[in-house]
Amino acid sequence: MHATTTRPARVADAATIAAWAAGYDAVMVDLGTGDGRFVYDQARRCPRRAVIGVDTCLGNLRRSARSTPDNARFVVADGLALPPELHRLATAATINFPWGSLLTGLLDGDAGLLTGLRVLGRNGMLLAVRLNAGALAEAGWELGAAGERVVTTLRHAGFSVGPIRAMGSSMLRDLPTTWAKRLAFGRDPRAIEITAVLVERGDAGHRDCAIPAGRGRRSSGDAVAGRREREGRLDADR
Ligand SMILES: C[S@@+](CC[C@H](N)C(=O)[O-])C[C@H]1O[C@@H](n2cnc3c(N)ncnc32)[C@H](O)[C@@H]1O
Repeated sequence: MHATTTRPARVADAATIAAWAAGYDAVMVDLGTGDGRFVYDQARRCPRRAVIGVDTCLGNLRRSARSTPDNARFVVADGLALPPELHRLATAATINFPWGSLLTGLLDGDAGLLTGLRVLGRNGMLLAVRLNAGALAEAGWELGAAGERVVTTLRHAGFSVGPIRAMGSSMLRDLPTTWAKRLAFGRDPRAIEITAVLVERGDAGHRDCAIPAGRGRRSSGDAVAGRREREGRLDADR
């Protein structure tokens, strides 16, 4: 008798993901996706974009395979050791409110994570990292210092990094992730957003349709990141 599996159909083997993603114009990868809310939202907003949620634990996925959009998939993987099948796939990537090894990997400049981020992306990949004060405090970091640290780390990894932006409650409320909502209505809503563009392999660029970002006013900052954000319409679809 065969053992039954409770694995939802939309959880894909890394081995099959590249062939599936090849059918789409753009590919977004959400590292540390948690319950997948962001993936469902992004897939629904842009049907021509493949959206892949990656997490070490996909036990909290919010929806059944049947109600998951065709252009969404989930992969069980460690962000610090991404499988080679994901390499060179992403036109956009997000890390929303990480904790655990994903967070310390960013702060410590973990070689596996940084190499993974670099090889995950196609030229010009847009990256958005969002960090919250509570998770950082547990890791022993203050919000401002952690932001500077991650900026430096990403620059060393070959990203052109935009300014650090404070995310207020309204920005958090607008961001379609479960942790963003929790933070927005919780006791400590302090968070920051760092956007970056992978430029190491040249700036030929591959456009993605959007990474949602907060609607707050931007300070002047990194010219390349700013331009790429506009081209990628980071704010356009929220
Ligand atoms: C606070 S939750 C945020 C979930 C989601 N991004 C959100 O905004 O609602 C942090 C997530 O990071 C995941 N995570 C931690 N370390 C990881 C790693 N090394 N690789 C992949 N995911 C990791 C955890 O499993 C958890 O789902």
